[in-house]
Amino acid sequence: MAFTYFFRDMQTLELIREHAMPELKGRKFIDIWDAGCAMGPEPYSLAIMLRESMGRFMFRNVRLFATDIDSSNLFEKIIADGVYPFEQVRRIPGEILGKYFEPLPDDPQSYVIREDVRACIHYQQHDLLTLDPIRKSFGLIVCKNVLLHFQHNERVRVYEMFHDALSDGGFLVNEQTQVLPDEVSHLFSPVVPNARIYRKTVVGS
Ligand SMILES: C[S@@+](CC[C@H](N)C(=O)[O-])C[C@H]1O[C@@H](n2cnc3c(N)ncnc32)[C@H](O)[C@@H]1O
Repeated sequence: MAFTYFFRDMQTLELIREHAMPELKGRKFIDIWDAGCAMGPEPYSLAIMLRESMGRFMFRNVRLFATDIDSSNLFEKIIADGVYPFEQVRRIPGEILGKYFEPLPDDPQSYVIREDVRACIHYQQHDLLTLDPIRKSFGLIVCKNVLLHFQHNERVRVYEMFHDALSDGGFLVNEQTQVLPDEVSHLFSPVVPNARIYRKTVVGS
């Protein structure tokens, strides 16, 4: 199983909340691609952060497309059900756990995520190395702890694909240790110094 957990990276969630959300909130749909989402804790953490920072009506405009190569073929069902064992949710801050998760009536050691949060996540199996974006015009792409597994040239191609998949002014987020390859540095501009949040550069403008 892929290594991941809920609220793994609070700093990145905070960067998204502070720098990307104020702009994306003005859009009709807030389309997000979580590429390499594993079995769901990352996209669900992001969705919960968004629900916390925006009202019920605006949250309905969030469409979070979560993808993974998923060699186990298990992630689609896990993410659709939104059910996680106590072991996986026990470190979630108590206030968030109580508000967004409920123990299953017939299995109180398992917790199901609130329906409105589940409804914004659309999962599909997808291999980033096909270099085909699942769709275009994303306001935000989150790709964390995935690119480190690729060869340098593959990483460059995937960054080019992300550039193509973003809307003008769209945001890209990586984990802190992932450095943008020189070959694609003209495609993205850092939003904050020393943090891995970038904006798409419109090439030729
Ligand atoms: C370490 S997990 C990271 C999960 C999550 N992004 C996080 O940071 O918590 C890496 C994920 O990348 C996925 N992955 C690896 N190669 C991939 C590929 N070619 N296309 C899509 N996903 C891939 C794995 O299946 C795994 O779920």
